[in-house]
Amino acid sequence: MNGTSKAVIDLLKGWPNPTLLPAAQIKNASTMALSNPAVSTPALLYGPDFGYEPLREQIAKWLTQFYRPPTPISTGRICITGGASQNMACILQVFSDPIYTRNVWMVSPTYFLAMRIFEDSGFHGRLRSVPEDEQGIDIRYLRKAMHKSEEKAIAEGNTKPTLKPVRPWSKIYRHFIYAVPTFSNPSSVTMSLERRQELVRVAREFDACIITDDVYDQLQWSGNTSISQPRMEHAILPRVVDIDRTLDGGTDRKGADGFGNTVSNGTFSKMVGPGCRTGWSESTEKFAWGNSQVGSTRSGGAPSQLISTFMADLLGSGGLQSHIFNSLQPTYARRYQNMMAAIEKHLTPLGVTLPQTSRSVIGGYFIWLTLPEPLQAEEVAVLARRDENLILAPGHIFAVTGDEEVVNLDQQVRVCFSWEQEDQLGEGIRRLGHVISSLQSFKGQQGKTNDEPPGDSTSLVEQYR
Ligand SMILES: Cc1ncc(COP(=O)(O)O)c(C=O)c1O
Repeated sequence: MNGTSKAVIDLLKGWPNPTLLPAAQIKNASTMALSNPAVSTPALLYGPDFGYEPLREQIAKWLTQFYRPPTPISTGRICITGGASQNMACILQVFSDPIYTRNVWMVSPTYFLAMRIFEDSGFHGRLRSVPEDEQGIDIRYLRKAMHKSEEKAIAEGNTKPTLKPVRPWSKIYRHFIYAVPTFSNPSSVTMSLERRQELVRVAREFDACIITDDVYDQLQWSGNTSISQPRMEHAILPRVVDIDRTLDGGTDRKGADGFGNTVSNGTFSKMVGPGCRTGWSESTEKFAWGNSQVGSTRSGGAPSQLISTFMADLLGSGGLQSHIFNSLQPTYARRYQNMMAAIEKHLTPLGVTLPQTSRSVIGGYFIWLTLPEPLQAEEVAVLARRDENLILAPGHIFAVTGDEEVVNLDQQVRVCFSWEQEDQLGEGIRRLGHVISSLQSFKGQQGKTNDEPPGDSTSLVEQYR
């Protein structure tokens, strides 16, 4: 229940606005695919385990152009998936053992929907937070905590996988690390090159598999608002998977098992539409083989076979690339700038701060706000919903389940600029400013009078959840 007649403004939902869905291009691609038996027949039958070959080839070419690694990305490194979330579950099925694999290390704040995927694979109670600073993941913290985890495992005699059979296409990693290194969800932080390199080194040291959701990399724009937006055709940094390929002798260095320590999870959800539920993974060819051998794929081939033929057409024709450069990048840049202008006008004067303010390249869907003391994000979110019909994501929902105390997220709020109508983004921030300043003046008075906070915050919190 809320006591306002204002129209709802939703800054929580992390979806693309419907105006950004390329329905006409998908219709053309589907017509092309379904009117040619050479495509429609494989499209409508079971496909290969690695996925639709023409799409794998197109993705390898497209990623090579975008990330510009020292040598081209081979098709053998690409595996077609049912999207980033579905593939995370597949990776865990093949490469983790719920006992031998000690912990899942998650950059905190984390993409909250990833947690259940790990828990479903047996890691309930063993998810661990790793703090993040202005450079990204805190490597020193991670290394120390992994060391402790190893000592515990050894003391318990946990020295070999017990629940998964030995298979030629797989190995069982001792640890998993999960991160969104570029334009993170939710913190918007981009991990520095140095931290990416250090992360690979730590993963190698502790036999960890790093899963990176590289799902926002193409949605980028210049932070310089005084120039007209250039097309951003190349990635700002190599992915962690690119670094693993070459750093200190790469994945085929002497003594390594050739599986590598990273897998990049890509998806068409953010660039085409989440309804497609089609993505890809990139890893070593050896790891990709394992990824393709998960039981649910072996039973009939890679997921998303029909949509894969549409995606192959979109990439082959250049339609997806022009959608990204001509539509998504400029639109998201404009949406971001609108929201930032409102933040600078309504929130900065109240003491709200943001991470990485001097970045030259910005991207993704989200802005991460830190509220001034003594405000709590949950009460701000509850009052915003009650008094302003404004929906926000309070920081605590991005805390790592079971290890919340390591990183305090009580003062953070995530706002999303991809979903809500563009002309409502500034209004949403104005409303948030109103909630913050009302609470600030209430708390100022409360210091003197000891009154109760405004409204019934307990029941509102319950209702909010
Ligand atoms: C970091 C991250 N990973 C994965 C996903 C979901 O990807 P998919 O739709 O491919 O499962 C999202 C969507 O919000 C996301 O933000």
